[in-house]
Amino acid sequence: MTNYKFLEPYTFEKKGITVKNRIVIPPMTEMMSFSNGEVTRDELRYYRIHTGGAGMFITAVANVNDEGKGFEGELSAADDKFIPSLASLADAIHKNGTKAILQIFSAGRMTFTSVLRGKQPVSASAVKALRNNSEEPRALTEEEVEQTIKDFGAATKRAILAGFDGVEIHGANTYLIQQFFSPHSNRRDDKWGGSLEKRMAFPFAVIDEAQKAIDKYAKKPFIMGYRLSPEEVEKPGITIEDTLAFVDAIKNKPIDYLHVSMGDVWRKSLNDSSIDKPLNLMIKEHLGQDIPLIGVGDIQSPADAEKVMDNGIEFAAIGRESLREPNWVEKVESGDENAIRYTLSLSDHDALGLSGTFWEFLLASFRPGLQISSDKQTDRSLFNNALDGIFAGAK
Ligand SMILES: Cc1cc2nc3c(=O)[nH]c(=O)nc-3n(C[C@H](O)[C@H](O)[C@H](O)COP(=O)(O)O)c2cc1C
Repeated sequence: MTNYKFLEPYTFEKKGITVKNRIVIPPMTEMMSFSNGEVTRDELRYYRIHTGGAGMFITAVANVNDEGKGFEGELSAADDKFIPSLASLADAIHKNGTKAILQIFSAGRMTFTSVLRGKQPVSASAVKALRNNSEEPRALTEEEVEQTIKDFGAATKRAILAGFDGVEIHGANTYLIQQFFSPHSNRRDDKWGGSLEKRMAFPFAVIDEAQKAIDKYAKKPFIMGYRLSPEEVEKPGITIEDTLAFVDAIKNKPIDYLHVSMGDVWRKSLNDSSIDKPLNLMIKEHLGQDIPLIGVGDIQSPADAEKVMDNGIEFAAIGRESLREPNWVEKVESGDENAIRYTLSLSDHDALGLSGTFWEFLLASFRPGLQISSDKQTDRSLFNNALDGIFAGAK
């Protein structure tokens, strides 16, 4: 009962860091931070309730600079003044050996002038996203591209000084780093765009800059993960062939894990129905054994997580399920898995730390995928596909 592979530790050999098990809490924005990006007490309460079981806990995304802010209530890592706030977050996550990973990003064109207090959103090129209400961004100048890369390095430094165990570079879910890799949003003809290789230049420069910060500031081994979305439905858009070429190339970069953002961990291609294999397995084949993969997307039960291990994927992330059941790992470890909650009662939300703006956000954007006990349960796959629409570039 308790001899699941996902309960075994994992050692990042290059770094000599051991994570106590292979369950990960994936990044989940809770919109609970103060308007300036500082962590609130309600936010810390949520983290304290949900940490301590999983091997790694990846935070809600934090912006690396002011123009990278994507939504209200977002965490910020955009200035040294946020180091104490980030330190309180790392400290809250550090319970029973859970590793704390800060996810960092710039939203690029996926934000609004109102969120940026009057400034126009920025992107690789001045191309609007094909979404309702999206705004036309302006293209970053070459100097601004260089500065943005430095901002990722500075945010990594702050994560180190705040006591995090690692950063996850958010190259997924249609945000700025993905916008540079995407032929839809990147129409540049300088060194940052044009060919497939040049579209990889910005993500790889961000990784190199983060590594420079690690070399300079980390006094103990520090993890660097990278998250990507494997396909876009836009034409032109990122294809699975582009992503596999990206995976072949990222193997030579100093990353410790790859995290593929999906609403269903076994999802196949959105664009090519002749491909009969889950994208995660295609990606794992290209990634090889040296760099571990985090699989995510509708993993709910211990059997779901074990299937991920059985397919050679090193980590299984439980997002929405962890909101419903903060003691998921503890219940499996103590042989009490029959007590795992797979539904969420409306009356439990505050006890689970899902309060205030987080609860409003969950109900407004994710209700059909939360499995609220008093709601009529709908086909899970419908919402998982919709989740890819919200987060992974599909519409
Ligand atoms: C409320 C909520 C907030 C999310 N915020 C982020 C985020 O900040 N960064 C990110 O990369 N993904 C984010 N995601 C996507 C999740 O990390 C995850 O990929 C997705 O929920 C699918 O996993 P699940 O089925 O286990 O929930 C969010 C998902 C949810 C439900």
